[in-house]
Amino acid sequence: MAQVVIENIYKSFPRRQEGKANRLTPTSEENLKESGSEPSSAVSVLRRINLAIHDGEFMVLVGPSGCGKSTLLRLIAGLESITGGNIWVGDRLINDLPPKQRDIAMVFQSYALYPHMTVYDNLAFGLRRSSGEWRAAAQEAAGAESYTKTTTQRPLWAERALVGLTRSLPQGLQYWSAEERAIAQRVATVAQMLQIDALLDRYPKQLSGGQKQRVALGRAMARDPQVFLMDEPLSNLDAKLRNETRTQIVNLQRKLGTTTVYVTHDQTEAMTMGDRIAVMNAGQIQQIASPLELYNRPANRFVAEFIGSPPMNFIPVQVKAPLLIQHPQFRMTLPESWEAALKPYDGRSLILGIRPEHLSVSLPAPKNLPVQVNHIEALGSETFLTVSLTESTSSEGRSDGLLQARIEPDRTVTLGETLWLSVAIDKIHLFDPKTTVRIA
Ligand SMILES: Nc1ncnc2c1ncn2[C@@H]1O[C@H](COP(=O)(O)OP(=O)(O)O)[C@@H](O)[C@H]1O
Ligand SMILES: [Mg+2]
Repeated sequence: MAQVVIENIYKSFPRRQEGKANRLTPTSEENLKESGSEPSSAVSVLRRINLAIHDGEFMVLVGPSGCGKSTLLRLIAGLESITGGNIWVGDRLINDLPPKQRDIAMVFQSYALYPHMTVYDNLAFGLRRSSGEWRAAAQEAAGAESYTKTTTQRPLWAERALVGLTRSLPQGLQYWSAEERAIAQRVATVAQMLQIDALLDRYPKQLSGGQKQRVALGRAMARDPQVFLMDEPLSNLDAKLRNETRTQIVNLQRKLGTTTVYVTHDQTEAMTMGDRIAVMNAGQIQQIASPLELYNRPANRFVAEFIGSPPMNFIPVQVKAPLLIQHPQFRMTLPESWEAALKPYDGRSLILGIRPEHLSVSLPAPKNLPVQVNHIEALGSETFLTVSLTESTSSEGRSDGLLQARIEPDRTVTLGETLWLSVAIDKIHLFDPKTTVRIA
């Protein structure tokens, strides 16, 4: 187990040019920092990434497609070279180590199982090749004596040769070295944990998607690495299986205590799985925090909109110190705790953020939002409305001027109806329109 520290990481890919080999041209870090743009020969994909993942932590990287999540994982795994910065695993600087020496296991979206090997051999494959750190542990657990006794009689290479030569023979004629027995024990433990012990003799093509996914997880787990990296491992599963496997992965990770970095573009997955979540956008980390901290105190408008479903509503308003915010259709007085924060914005505009769950159907009042119902989604347990502020100057607000509200399921609403929505005043957020930073 180990902590993983990502220190000021930059990554750029060479711009593809015709007739030129796809070679990496490192981008100078200083250049990036000072000019804020990259030399024309390179595309900057990750910028100034700093992330400290605690020992045993389940860290989720979440962000829209193309924001650089996979690239960051591949840098940690050693499948891509870094352009600038450092990556530490425990007290080892791993920047220049080849993937095999990093003691990191990665699970991909495509399960990447060996099709010509049984589940057993897929699980055992990494163990047979690995340098034997896990074996020392297995040895200890299994009672070291029998293991060391038999291995000392024949050199390891000879043992392995015998195993290899007899592997395709019927079971009774196979040679089981001490090493192979330790591997079998390890495979059995992992297979049991993932409930794939009944599938060990099957080939990947005889497995369902969920089973393949568990074998891929098992292969990563069997090696007992210092770090797990998982890149959208559930996206090929159907919704029900995805939920089940989600829980299973979290429970397994708790049990094993292996430091894990899990990548997803799905905010629900991030919120339900992560100890902490790093929200990424356009090659940069926007915020690193616990799920509820992200929900309650988003650092900026991007995080506010990305975390939570349906997303937060944004409405431009005018500030009138000390505590008034105004819109052509409503005006509200904020609690006194806002006074200091609003002062510098007196007479200027701000973006008001309200989550759909913090709007509710109310009575006409100056502080309430007059809206017209455009769309109703009744789900039984809750109802979502898409509404537009009545007579709103349509150039303001979201591009389409639409808001979403979550209301009680037993409130009957008709299409085109005019409603007044009240805002849970202690749940609002305000954002600077220029920097998009949340004002606290
Ligand atoms: N080998 C590569 N060469 C050039 N550009 C790449 C390469 N790999 C990824 N990219 C670019 O880097 C950006 C981030 O990609 P990726 O890390 O795969 O995003 P994500 O996993 O968040 O969807 C994308 O714009 C992608 O086109
Ligand atoms: Mg990706």
